[in-house]
Amino acid sequence: MVSVAILGAAGGIGQPLSLLMKLNTSITKLNLYDIVNVPGVAADISHIATNAEVKAFLGPTQLADAVTNVDLAIIPAGVPRKPGMTRDDLFKINAGIVKSLVEAIAENSPKAIIAIISNPVNSTVPIAAEILKAKGVYDPKRLFGVTTLDVVRASRFVRDIRPELDATTLRVPVVGGHSGNTIVPLLSIASSPIKLSTEERDALTHRIQFGGDEVVKAKDGAGSATLSMAYAGARFADSIIRALGGESVVEPTFIPLAADPEGAKQIRELGAGDLEFFAVTVELGKEGVKSIVQLPTSNLTGFELKAIAVAAEALTTNISTGVNFVK
Ligand code: APR
Repeated sequence: MVSVAILGAAGGIGQPLSLLMKLNTSITKLNLYDIVNVPGVAADISHIATNAEVKAFLGPTQLADAVTNVDLAIIPAGVPRKPGMTRDDLFKINAGIVKSLVEAIAENSPKAIIAIISNPVNSTVPIAAEILKAKGVYDPKRLFGVTTLDVVRASRFVRDIRPELDATTLRVPVVGGHSGNTIVPLLSIASSPIKLSTEERDALTHRIQFGGDEVVKAKDGAGSATLSMAYAGARFADSIIRALGGESVVEPTFIPLAADPEGAKQIRELGAGDLEFFAVTVELGKEGVKSIVQLPTSNLTGFELKAIAVAAEALTTNISTGVNFVK
């Protein structure tokens, strides 16, 4: 019985994400919004025989209706990364898009859970927080940046060098942020022990941090990850939906640490310091974040602690870039 809006539904991520959401049997209403092409996408997907009612909303005049009475709003709108562009190059365009979409959600579904995919997530999530604060409806438990692709890549890339492991069940905690060296995979505390030489550890860490570049390069000018990102977005949305339905669900994500100040203490001690936002693993409930899952921190290596310090420094800048954009 969940209502979901996808904003940017006609894009490279938006279309496969909309398809995967149409297959989610807990969704009863699926509002697809974009500034182009969305009627065709919605008509196409609407024929799939699940119970979700699919509706198209095209352009700014239909934005308010698209986000009225929704439980979850997922935002993949934006421009994708082209070769030579970093995620941060995308900032100016995507910042403006996210700002206008979050304003509309704040005005029309102030209690909706918001999941942001538009990059750079390290800055777009702080932008959303500022907008929600300005509108007087900020609840840090209900605002998320989708980092699921980082843990998905971590599991898969580990299996590439350790084929005896099962990529579908292996869990590697990833903390920090969602771009380059802000992504910190904690390989030493993965759900199965992974024995790595120093060279393997360095190469694997780098590959998880910069995995998105492999896709940008292979697409040769046509954009960044869309299909794997849509899969990751759908997995994250499904976790939120199950939590809204009363299940207790554990999920990695980029959140305001104010969502669980007590649970955040450990993360701050690890090197997040005063940072307001960080990627952590959370337990989700009906109200959004229930708690931050505590890590077996005494097992972390010096390499990982140093990587967290590097991430925290870069994140400080990314977060202020977002906050200053709004201010
Ligand atoms: N409102 C709604 N949708 C918008 C807006 C807007 N103001 N501006 C752009 N869009 C839509 C586009 O029309 C397009 O359909 O967002 C969609 C983006 O799709 P693509 O250009 O194919 O980009 P995609 O590869 O899906 O990436 C989108 O996700 O991972 C991030 O870095 C990526 O920030 C980028 C975003």
